Amino acid sequence: MKIIAINSSPAGNKGYTAMLLTPFLKGMKDAGAEVNLYLTKDLKINPCCGQFTCSIKNIDCFQKDDMVEIHPQLLEADIWVFATPLYISGMNGPMKTFMDRMLIPWGETYVILEDGRSHHPMKKKKKEGKVF
Ligand SMILES: Cc1cc2nc3c(=O)[nH]c(=O)nc-3n(C[C@H](O)[C@H](O)[C@H](O)COP(=O)(O)O)c2cc1C
Repeated sequence: MKIIAINSSPAGNKGYTAMLLTPFLKGMKDAGAEVNLYLTKDLKINPCCGQFTCSIKNIDCFQKDDMVEIHPQLLEADIWVFATPLYISGMNGPMKTFMDRMLIPWGETYVILEDGRSHHPMKKKKKEGKVF
């Protein structure tokens, strides 16, 4: 089982977010999972430019930053783990920037109505998985 984990705390592995995340990932590793952990503080990830070119043309983002390495892993992983400190009652900026750049592996551009709610369906090339 492949797991990709993102920690968006500016404190990295020394923060409170890591205090919760580290034993969680250790449990997964002990159970035999292959875990890839990324700290956003060590990554160069530009904000999404919002042009939708990647999604409409189904091509890679024109921005050649650290998301180039991460996109294929998001498609292959069985589980995505997002760990963010709470900033103003929500995720912090680096995590939001990361997620905005997930348009390619995440969602189709169109919206469907399912179980009484509308949402973007997952990309067909993304295998079934879980998100924590
Ligand atoms: C800009 C900012 C906004 C915050 N907003 C909240 C908040 O809305 N609610 C809360 O309970 N804690 C809030 N906090 C506290 C952080 O969530 C807390 O310090 C967190 O444990 C830090 O995690 P870290 O050590 O991994 O960076 C905020 C901290 C900062 C710096």
